[in-house]
Amino acid sequence: MRRKIIIDTDPGQDDAVAILLALASPEEIDVLGITAVAGNVPLPLTQRNARIICELAGHTHIPVFAGCDAPLERRLVTAEHVHGKTGLDGPQLPDPTMPLQDQHGVDFIIETLRREPSGSVTLCPLGPLTNIATALTRAPDIAPRIQEIVLMGGAYFEVGNITPAAEFNIYVDPQAAEIVFKSGVPLTVMPLDLTHKALTTAERVETFRKMGTHVGQMVAEWTDFFERFDKEKYGSEGAPLHDPCVIAYLIRPDLFKGRFVNVEIETQSELTLGMTVADWWGVTNRPANATFMGDVDASGFFQLLTERIARL
Ligand code: BDR
Ligand code: CA
Repeated sequence: MRRKIIIDTDPGQDDAVAILLALASPEEIDVLGITAVAGNVPLPLTQRNARIICELAGHTHIPVFAGCDAPLERRLVTAEHVHGKTGLDGPQLPDPTMPLQDQHGVDFIIETLRREPSGSVTLCPLGPLTNIATALTRAPDIAPRIQEIVLMGGAYFEVGNITPAAEFNIYVDPQAAEIVFKSGVPLTVMPLDLTHKALTTAERVETFRKMGTHVGQMVAEWTDFFERFDKEKYGSEGAPLHDPCVIAYLIRPDLFKGRFVNVEIETQSELTLGMTVADWWGVTNRPANATFMGDVDASGFFQLLTERIARL
């Protein structure tokens, strides 16, 4: 069945590929809107990047909203060292001409969930969870109306990428993550444990380049850009393509394997702030609250990605 989604995002080259995958998959996915949040780079850039991506895909009718410009309680931590100064460094792309919506992103999330039939809208956060947590706090009535939250964030076996203990999206706003993980909404989590198995090899990047399309070329150049950092950091053959895993899961859930377990967020300790403590081995009696993914069929994932990106 076609799923209605809201993409909440901080683009980010991998966010960009996730958005393109969703826009290229109208049989399975209906993108109701895109809400930008501060994360990889500050909000003025993430909302701008979201519009650049929609224009690149030729989907200028998608409403794009600006959401929260700072985490709930902490100062914003950004990741220009990975994504570049604009958040979307790599190829040169024109300034967007499609408008930014006047409405605040959080209000759009709340209104959409109240308007659409209960249980028919899925939220897809690809950045820090500030917008989603703000919506849940301001309008607790929306929680039971959300079909599912499928998010990229956290790690258990891979532990951290921004600190030794924490993954970037959760670390930037751990208080927001705690609200989301305690919300009672069905949660599916794509942590680093899984995304580090979806590496862009040279061959995979070449497939994008050889598509002979403008979008294919852009995806190859973005990947080349952020790979340079990850390859050096991990000594791996490619970089993890984190955020598209969220959208791929909506299209082909059979490519993913995980466990329904308890996941708690560390919000106090300086040392391990933002850690996602997943009870993978079932050693506590804490109730399960999230399907925490651990494995992906990487070649199936890249096959899907290339087939869909080639359509744009
Ligand atoms: C996450 O952090 C961002 O840099 C990426 O876009 C992804 O959402 C990975 O830790
Ligand atoms: Ca992201």
